[in-house]
Amino acid sequence: DKSENLQVRPPVVTIMGHVDHGKTSLLDAIRKTRVASGESGGITQHIGAYQVEQNGQKISFIDTPGHAAFTSMRARGAQATDIAVLVVAADDSVMPQTIESINHAKAAGVPIIVAINKMDKPEADASKVRTGLLQHEVFVESMGGEVLDVEVSAKAGTNLDKLLEAILLQAEILDLKADPDRTAEGVVIEAQLDKGRGPVATVLIQTGTLRRGDIVVAGDEWGRVRALVNDKGEQMKEALPSAPVEVLGMNGTPLAGDRFAVVESEAKAREISEYRQRVTREKQVAKSAGQRGSLEQMMSQ
Ligand code: GTP
Ligand code: NA
Ligand code: MG
Repeated sequence: DKSENLQVRPPVVTIMGHVDHGKTSLLDAIRKTRVASGESGGITQHIGAYQVEQNGQKISFIDTPGHAAFTSMRARGAQATDIAVLVVAADDSVMPQTIESINHAKAAGVPIIVAINKMDKPEADASKVRTGLLQHEVFVESMGGEVLDVEVSAKAGTNLDKLLEAILLQAEILDLKADPDRTAEGVVIEAQLDKGRGPVATVLIQTGTLRRGDIVVAGDEWGRVRALVNDKGEQMKEALPSAPVEVLGMNGTPLAGDRFAVVESEAKAREISEYRQRVTREKQVAKSAGQRGSLEQMMSQ
């Protein structure tokens, strides 16, 4: 009997926007930690994933870099998400990566909430932001639309509760549910080889519950979950739907954006990953053969 046990799950929220408009600072202020100040040059180089609680309700956040070079990360962020928080600095207004973020959110069919940030600055102009957004078909409430917008300051900590309430309101409308009883599935947010811990994959669980000891496949790689670590560095026995979690125990590092799933046996996991590795190798061979072919063509002309 495969009857479903659908339960309310936390919203997954991606923070997007132009470089230096204050995405990481806003998330820091919400988490009351200091991520942005610890970054190299204050530029987000990777996707961070965190979970916070507001009045007992959980919200999962994915931070993305605003630098022009990180288009694919923003696109991936939008795809893995329920709600996009578009951060626009009130002293700078709508800029190229603001527009790009709007396009990613729209392409993914994800509702936008606008955080008009840096309202503590004397030159802040929230109405200029609203008009700028209007030109890109983001209609906030005061302009007769339905997009929620909140004036905030990450620096002063202004209106952060209001922003979280707007997120929870939007989440309620979306009626987000998942079945925690299923075997876990999700998406790889990022992965790296850690000197001490080996391959570490940050995964967003989208359905089911992931447990220590589970056998998992992600992209070309597989492994048995040795440890699950949350964003506070705490070890966990299990990770529920919408939770971002570090997975230790994979044999290699999967790629950001890879699908992630629990399978029933090591034999099955090995079979899937060997098949995928063969497909990847064949693609590479075909690609380099193509390159060689066109090089020979060039030389013979
Ligand atoms: P990238 O990840 O590099 O795209 O940047 P970001 O959007 O995460 O911006 P970040 O949080 O790194 O902040 C950029 C700069 O703006 C930093 O110097 C912050 O201190 C400053 N800043 C962020 N929020 C505010 C705010 O509300 N008010 C003021 N005055 N400055 C802010
Ligand atoms: Na920055
Ligand atoms: Mg950042």
